[in-house]
Amino acid sequence: QCLNPTVFVIFGGTGDLNMRKLAPALYNLYSDGYMPKDYAIIGTARSKLTDVQFRNTIMEGVNSFSRAGKVKKEKWDGFAENVYYNPVDVSAPETFQDLKTSIEKLKKKFGPKTQVIYYLAVAPNLFPLIAECIAKYDLAGNEENCRIVIEKPFGRDLETARELNKLLTGIFTEKQIYRIDHYLGKETVQNIMAFRFANSFLEPLWNRTYIDHVQISVTEQLGVGDRGGYYDGAGALRDMIQNHILQLLCLIGMETPINFDADEIRNKKVDVLKAMRPFGPDDIRMSTVRGQYSKGWVEGKEVPGYRSEKDVAPESNTETFAAAKFFVDNWRWQGIPFYVRTGKRLFQTSSLITIQFKDVPHQVFPAGVTEHWQQNRLIISIQPEMSIRLQVQAKRPGLDMVLNPVDMVFDYKGTYSAEAPEAYETLLLDVMIADQTQFMRADQVESAWELLMPVINAWESKTSLSFPNYPADSWGPEDAEALIARDGFHWFTLPLKNKD
Ligand code: BG6
Repeated sequence: QCLNPTVFVIFGGTGDLNMRKLAPALYNLYSDGYMPKDYAIIGTARSKLTDVQFRNTIMEGVNSFSRAGKVKKEKWDGFAENVYYNPVDVSAPETFQDLKTSIEKLKKKFGPKTQVIYYLAVAPNLFPLIAECIAKYDLAGNEENCRIVIEKPFGRDLETARELNKLLTGIFTEKQIYRIDHYLGKETVQNIMAFRFANSFLEPLWNRTYIDHVQISVTEQLGVGDRGGYYDGAGALRDMIQNHILQLLCLIGMETPINFDADEIRNKKVDVLKAMRPFGPDDIRMSTVRGQYSKGWVEGKEVPGYRSEKDVAPESNTETFAAAKFFVDNWRWQGIPFYVRTGKRLFQTSSLITIQFKDVPHQVFPAGVTEHWQQNRLIISIQPEMSIRLQVQAKRPGLDMVLNPVDMVFDYKGTYSAEAPEAYETLLLDVMIADQTQFMRADQVESAWELLMPVINAWESKTSLSFPNYPADSWGPEDAEALIARDGFHWFTLPLKNKD
C-alpha cells in the first residue's frame, strides 16, 4: 500500500497506552512494512525529555508488550530515527507553539501530501483542552490531511458525550474524527462480518424463527489493577457494555449492508442501537444485575476485594460486574433475548458470543437416544481461543443409536500459520488510510448512551447496596445466574485448558 507521508502526534506519549499498545503497534507495522515511506512520530507529554530518552522509554514498552517479542536492533534503529519528543503542557497552551513548529518542519520535509494524525492517549478531561489548543494554533487541517483519534471513555453519560461531540465537530469534520473501540480491531471481531456476510448458508437462519437467544459474555480474571482511579468513576456498564459489548451486539444484530463503505456499515449498526428496547423501571429491576468482587484466591494467590484496591473509595458502590437482558425490537429479532455479562475477577478470561438455535420442531428419536441432547449452538470465541464452533448432534460410533453434541470447529491456530495482528495495529493502519469503518460515529456513541442512561440513573440513585456480592474467582453474583435461568437458559462457557 502506498501511504501518504504521515506525522503521528501522540498526546500522552509517556503514558501507559502508548507503552502497552500504540508504540508496539506502530513498531510492528513498521517491521511488517506497513508504515509509509516518510513518517514521523512525535510523542508529547509534560516531562522534559530528549528524543533519545523518549526513544529509550518507548523501546522498553515495545520490548515488554509487543506480540512479536523484543525489538530487533536493526529494525528498531530504522524505526526509532523517525521518533521525536516535544514537551507539551495543556495547562500552558503556549507550549503548542513548539509542537506546531515541529509539525510544520516535518510537513515541509515530507511534502504537500503529508497527513497529520493526533492521537489523544490521555485522560478524558484533557480531550477538550487539547482539541481547543489544536484549533487555536490552526492545526486542525482538513479532511484530506488531518485526523484526530479519541480513546474511550467517550463521555461519561449522554450529556457529556453530546458536549464532547459538539466541541469536536466544531473543530473537525466527522470524517476527521476517529473514536476508537479497540474491540473492533480484533481479528475475531472483524471476522464476524466476514462470517455473516460472505457465506450464504447462515442468513436464512439468522433471525427470530431459528434463533432462540444470544449471549455475549466478556469475562476477565484480572481485577482493576492500577486503574482504580479511572474505574471507580466508571464501572462495568460504562467501561465495557456501553462500548465493546454493544458493538459486538450490533455486529450480530445488524442487517446486511449493501456494501462495505464505512457509513453504510455504521448506518446498519446504529439501526440496531435505535431498535433496542428502552429500559423501564421494571426492566431495570428484572433484567439487569450488578455486582462487586470481594477478596479471594486466584491461582494460589490471595487477591484484594475491589474496595481495597489502589485508588478505590473504601465504601465504593461501583459495579465490577454487570449483566443485562436486551431486546432488539425489529422484524428480525422481535422477542429474542440478547443476554450480556461482563466483569472483573471472574473465573475465566474469555470473550464469547453464543448463538443458541431453537430446538427441532419434532423429536424423532426415542428418550434413551437423546439423553445428551442439546440445541444447536454457534459459538464465536473472540479470545483467548480464536475460533468459531458449530455444535451439532451426531451419532456416537457404536452399535447403539446414541446421540451426543459435537463441535465443528474453525480454529485460527489450526487453519492459518500467520499470527493475527493486534487490534491497535489494524486500527492505526485504518486511521492512516482514512478508513472509518471500524470507528464509532457520533450517533453510535450517543445512541449507546441513550439506551443505558435509565440503567445508569437508576443504579446511581440507589447506593445502599449489599456490595461486595461475589468472591474473586467466581462467575459473578448469583443474581446473574438467576437472570438467565428464569428464562430456562444458563450462561455458556468454553472449558479452558488451565481451568476445569
Ligand atoms: C478496556 C477496558 O476498554 O478493555 C478494560 O477499559 C478492559 O477495563 C479491557 O480490561 C479489555 O480489553 P481486552 O482487549 O483485554 O479484552
